[in-house]
Amino acid sequence: MKHTKIKDLLNSTKPIDNVTVKGWVRTFRNNQFLAINDGSVIHNIQAVVDFENTSPETLKRLTTSAAVLVTGNLAESQGAGQKFEIQVKHLEILGDSDAEKYPIQLRNKPSLEFLREQAHLRVRTNAFGAIMRVRSVLSFAIHQYFQEKGFVYVNTPIITGSDAEGAGEMFHVTSFPVNDAPKNDDGSVNYKEDFFGKETNLTVSGQLEAETYAMALGQVYTFGPTFRAENSNTSRHLAEFWMVEPEVAFNNLDDNMDLAEDFIQYVIKYALDKCPDDLAFLNQRLTDEEKTKPAAERSEMSLLEKLNFVLENNFKRVSYTEAIDILKSSKPNKNKKFNYIIEEWGADLQSEHERFLVEKHFKCPVILYDYPAKIKAFYMRLNDDAPQDRQTVRAMDILFPGIGEIVGGSQREERLDILQQKIADLGIDEKELWWYLDTRRFGTAVHSGFGLGFERLVLFVTGMTNIRDVIPFPRTPQNAEF
Ligand code: 4AD
Ligand code: MG
Repeated sequence: MKHTKIKDLLNSTKPIDNVTVKGWVRTFRNNQFLAINDGSVIHNIQAVVDFENTSPETLKRLTTSAAVLVTGNLAESQGAGQKFEIQVKHLEILGDSDAEKYPIQLRNKPSLEFLREQAHLRVRTNAFGAIMRVRSVLSFAIHQYFQEKGFVYVNTPIITGSDAEGAGEMFHVTSFPVNDAPKNDDGSVNYKEDFFGKETNLTVSGQLEAETYAMALGQVYTFGPTFRAENSNTSRHLAEFWMVEPEVAFNNLDDNMDLAEDFIQYVIKYALDKCPDDLAFLNQRLTDEEKTKPAAERSEMSLLEKLNFVLENNFKRVSYTEAIDILKSSKPNKNKKFNYIIEEWGADLQSEHERFLVEKHFKCPVILYDYPAKIKAFYMRLNDDAPQDRQTVRAMDILFPGIGEIVGGSQREERLDILQQKIADLGIDEKELWWYLDTRRFGTAVHSGFGLGFERLVLFVTGMTNIRDVIPFPRTPQNAEF
């Protein structure tokens, strides 16, 4: 039987006879009012069951999360809060859900922590349905933005020999079938073995490969899964996350900043336009959550206000050196939230510093640029044009309120000799990067790019606070259940 999406029925301008919906029961009240959701929209449709002509056994089986089919007339609803309801003529239970065992039902207001252990079922809640629809729309917006601008989408390898970030945070890949893995003397698996004779790992970034493509196709982007074997248990880090990485030939650092800002504003606007119901729900969710905090810790803006603020205001561009000066001259606040230790020039910024700059000092998204070379990756363009330069590189990080670093990027070192020197200084074997260096040997040019952590963007847009709640099946040191 053909069925209609609940979203389309709720958007109808007039009553319709004989519609069929298929979905899952959210609630069943007074033996009569059945709330059904099919995932097409945050709202449920109310189906009014003719309980006098329905068997008591069937009514009993209308438990939360049972899969059902109903057919009836879509009629104007007398009830508050909904325009239409279905007056049920025919009801079928497609799949029972045992109320005594359904994990989410057993808890009154299940916590986000509990729901993380039920990642396969949590998507049946309103909040996770909304988050995952927004995530999907943002992902489409990313492709649309770059495609409209003529960028070529490049699929860079997941298994690779290079450590793009030079940080050593890689997962090693072996070529052995699980049951055939070589063993150590004590019988444990020897994970050090190579991938068909070559040492490889899961990619930490598609940048180096994307650079080679940018040097032929001009403007390219990657968008794929990325892996970091850092054992950090924060609300901002995952072992497996998705990254968007544009790379553009002939762009300098200023062009790179312009692109990043325009891109982020575009995708946020796209989500606001396409997901009004989900974002209204998430806005309310956050407002309710904020009310449970002490007044001093509450956010001044609602989620929708924050999103609109980002659209309406330019990101503040500040050099690393200026940022250090600001941090040094602003007294760390005794109020815990912005209590940081003052750092000297050359130190990497901690999240407390970033939060102070974004949330307290500038009160808007900030692009920090020209970082000390020592704390950044080998491929960044050395700033040696000006004699007063203090060994900085053309790096940029974009910092967002409540999130911290959302983007990391740079203008790339395009000069072969300087890049080779840098590689040698860091003790990296030049032979490993022969193909990368070829881009500097054959028609090198100024070029720039950046990486946006997709989950951090989704965190910002949905107003969630833990990165585990914006990816369907989070991979963290403690969580690889699914
Ligand atoms: O700053 P990162 O390490 O930069 C790069 O990988 C560059 N190769 C990107 C480029 O220039 N093409 O990572 C980029 C972004 C960070 O700003 C952050 O948003 C996100 O990726 N990110 C993570 N997100 C979730 N979990 C992690 N463990 C992350 N590590 C980085
Ligand atoms: Mg970074």
